[in-house]
Amino acid sequence: MNSPMTVLVTGGAGYVGSHCVAELLDRGAKVIVLDNLRQGHRAAVPAEAAFVEADLADTDALKRVFAEWRFDAVFHFAALSLVGESMRDPHLYLHGNTVNSLNLIRATVEAGVRKMVFSSTANLFGTPERLPIDEDTAIDPGSPYGESKFFIERALHWADRCHGLRSACLRYFNAAGAHPNGLLGEDHHPETHLIPLVLDAAAGKRSHIEIFGDDYPTPDGTCVRDYIHVCDLADAHLRVLDALETRSVRYNLGNGTGYSVRQVIEAVERVTGLKVPVKVGPRRAGDPAVLIASSERIRTELGWNPRFPDLDSIIGGAWAWRSRNPNGYRGPATAQAAE
Ligand SMILES: NC(=O)c1ccc[n+]([C@@H]2O[C@H](COP(=O)([O-])OP(=O)(O)OC[C@H]3O[C@@H](n4cnc5c(N)ncnc54)[C@H](O)[C@@H]3O)[C@@H](O)[C@H]2O)c1
Repeated sequence: MNSPMTVLVTGGAGYVGSHCVAELLDRGAKVIVLDNLRQGHRAAVPAEAAFVEADLADTDALKRVFAEWRFDAVFHFAALSLVGESMRDPHLYLHGNTVNSLNLIRATVEAGVRKMVFSSTANLFGTPERLPIDEDTAIDPGSPYGESKFFIERALHWADRCHGLRSACLRYFNAAGAHPNGLLGEDHHPETHLIPLVLDAAAGKRSHIEIFGDDYPTPDGTCVRDYIHVCDLADAHLRVLDALETRSVRYNLGNGTGYSVRQVIEAVERVTGLKVPVKVGPRRAGDPAVLIASSERIRTELGWNPRFPDLDSIIGGAWAWRSRNPNGYRGPATAQAAE
């Protein structure tokens, strides 16, 4: 019998990382999570996973982790990821995200680990000239955050060329939804993602949701985005491991369907049965009208297909988790998690 694979997951206490940890554990892997808990939650890491509280800036801590376990692969989620914050403090992102990732890449190479899966972003493409956005779309990051992710993609390219570290750069569009097991969901502080913010407005935790501009060249005038279920992202992470046996890969990961801000609000009202108070404000600088992914390449090459493509079921899962955990990971759940 093959021994189980051992995977280091940086940022595994965060939103996407914790869902990937669950997927890895489901498939019998041994998982070690490294997270500084600045944004993540200890309660999002199941007891079956080992947990190391450490920062990627701490190279001694990294050395200890790589000395203690022998990893088959590294999943790298840990990063700062607020676009607006990166516009106010570009150094924090251009330096912090990049140097932390370089530390991790070096430790990975030195330990002789051959596979890394990296969380990249649709922000790599800024305001693209054509849609949908595929892997051949010109890279022109929309923020210092996106630029930091591009630096890291380039560092991984050279780590492959020079050291044979195979990597998968997965450019996520908007991660959304919650794990069907009811134990994991989205709990960011501050929250900047549309679906949890609209759910909060529906639940009366926020006075209203502000629409940033309704005069875009889209059917209802509001911005259109591609929402991908967080478990579909997790599935893609597992699938790319096979591809990494032979080559490095880059994939854009989205649903391939766009929904406008107004469509998201309507879907939240449909799913929750609650009214969402709305105010229309001015456009935000740098917001493209439409961002929709083409994920044809990963569909064709690896047979990946979103299992939860429908907006109402994505929102339904997020609503179920928020209803059971009104204080996120910080407070007691209101009811038993789903079986
Ligand atoms: N959520 C999305 O829609 C989305 C879209 C595109 C890309 N991404 C990328 O996916 C990854 C995960 O996103 P998320 O929404 O789960 O974010 P998150 O903030 O919920 O998770 C990131 C985790 O990394 C940890 N972390 C951050 N810096 C660290 C450091 N220096 N050392 C150790 N741990 C550190 C945080 O505590 C947190 O638990 C990020 O790299 C993000 O840029 C996310």
